[in-house]
Amino acid sequence: MASSRFTVFPLVVLSIFSLSLVGDANKLKSSPFESALDTLQNQIGYAFKNIGYLRQAMTHSSFSEENNKAFSILGSNVIDTSVSMYYIGKDIGISSKELNRRIAENSKVDTSCAVDGMRLGLHKVVRVSSKTNSTTPSVVCGAFRAIFGAVAIDTKKVDDAGIVFWKVHGSEVGKVMVM
Ligand SMILES: *[C@@H]1O[C@H](CO)[C@@H](O)[C@H](O)[C@H]1NC(C)=O
Repeated sequence: MASSRFTVFPLVVLSIFSLSLVGDANKLKSSPFESALDTLQNQIGYAFKNIGYLRQAMTHSSFSEENNKAFSILGSNVIDTSVSMYYIGKDIGISSKELNRRIAENSKVDTSCAVDGMRLGLHKVVRVSSKTNSTTPSVVCGAFRAIFGAVAIDTKKVDDAGIVFWKVHGSEVGKVMVM
């Protein structure tokens, strides 16, 4: 009894010490890329269950075989679907011309998705090869769209990805949808 009481204190000290070592090791593991992913999740207001999806969304095809191309296609469809749902819901008789105009307005490379992507600072996050300029609109747009593809895969719901899109994209529609 008496001897075990004396061993408790050093044991506690030792375990606190080893816990802090583990903490330091984790800090060392966190690269600038990983902390940029944390910041990005805060910016878009969505925390990934599987951070690997966001990592892949922020990887250009020049960097790795496992890249954001497929996520980007899905993300582009999420955006188009979400825009279509909103405008047809608002005006059931909307013309195809007007709907296409709305879709283009909300997803055009130069005026919409590159602007949104730059505002999120994606050109500083997305991983590209050393020969690739990460500030070009196509790279920024690809990464931007891939975020919503990644959210859809993470939640298994296109709607959830659409909500994150409106939140990030802003606009009058966004305010209505997020409410
Ligand atoms: C990278 O692309 C951006 C946008 O197209 C351009 O403004 C910039 O000059 C380019 N940088 C280099 C180093 O080519």
